[in-house]
Amino acid sequence: MSQSQLDQIKSNALKAFTSAQNSQELYNFKVQFLGKSGALTEAMKLMATLPKEEKPAFGKLVNEVKVELEAAYEKAESALKNKEIDAKMLEEKLDLSFAVSSQEQGKEHPIHKVTNEIFSIMARLGYSLRTGPLIEKDYYNFEALNIPPNHPARDMQDTFFVDDTHVLRTHTSPIQIHSLESEKLPLRIIGTGPVFRVDSDISHLPNFHQIEGMCVDSQVSMSDLKGTISFFVKEFFGPGLKTRFRPSFFPFTEPSAEVDCSCPICKSKGCSLCKQTGWIEIGGCGLINPKVFEHAKVEYPKWQGFAFGFGVERMAIIKYGVDDIRHFPANDVRFLKQF
Ligand code: PHE
Repeated sequence: MSQSQLDQIKSNALKAFTSAQNSQELYNFKVQFLGKSGALTEAMKLMATLPKEEKPAFGKLVNEVKVELEAAYEKAESALKNKEIDAKMLEEKLDLSFAVSSQEQGKEHPIHKVTNEIFSIMARLGYSLRTGPLIEKDYYNFEALNIPPNHPARDMQDTFFVDDTHVLRTHTSPIQIHSLESEKLPLRIIGTGPVFRVDSDISHLPNFHQIEGMCVDSQVSMSDLKGTISFFVKEFFGPGLKTRFRPSFFPFTEPSAEVDCSCPICKSKGCSLCKQTGWIEIGGCGLINPKVFEHAKVEYPKWQGFAFGFGVERMAIIKYGVDDIRHFPANDVRFLKQF
């Protein structure tokens, strides 16, 4: 091995390092020249064949080349790395002028919107908000509300049973019992949330929302109930809508009534939504049955009260003139956008 051979290796290596197009190629060159069986290492091994007096000078020379090549490799490596980072950044550059398809803005679901409106109207009458469990004990959903086991009144609400003693609540009226059991009287509460029934058609959903009102005080009459509901309905729907109270039956109220509003779709002329009657039922109401007070251990007639329970989807249908209650859970954005 002569000095000129060594120079050849060095200049080949330097050429290779500067010509490498990417880090991988550069690394392959490093292996080729500086690796374990690379050209320079092989040259070092040849030292053994040299006469003794030439060894130190040649060894020094090889080392110098090695240091020089290592430095050249590092320089080339960092230049390539920078080049690669630059390329990557260019490729990933944010184009702030790029036209994006217009972003839809989310908003409140109509059922939430209606519920919140109802709260704010009732809050003006001194009502405050309560919720309750969706899986109820049979006792709270039925028995405490004067609907004993095996009583025909249970047929009013087709029920999803979870087990022998629990049901998916069929109405928000169990909230009345929770409050009567645990709160100080007098009391004005509004309860809300989903309820579940085995029921599904153009005006019934298996999972819908109710709004429950309850007022308990020392002297409460049917005219307080009618006054409260009439005020509430006028505030919510506006003055153009007519309401009527129809005598009805609920085991937990006595006397009981159903509340109807004039049909906004056909303007009371009769259509499929109002079943040709011109009226849409929004819920039930009545004076709290003394049996309910008895279950909740509230003294009657020292305390008396009224209660009402309305369907939130029904109220939304009437307010916005929606022709099918199933639009609400379907969540089609084209429908939701209109509110
Ligand atoms: N809970 C009854 C229902 O779901 C409605 C109601 C509530 C009636 C309160 C009277 C008093 O049908």
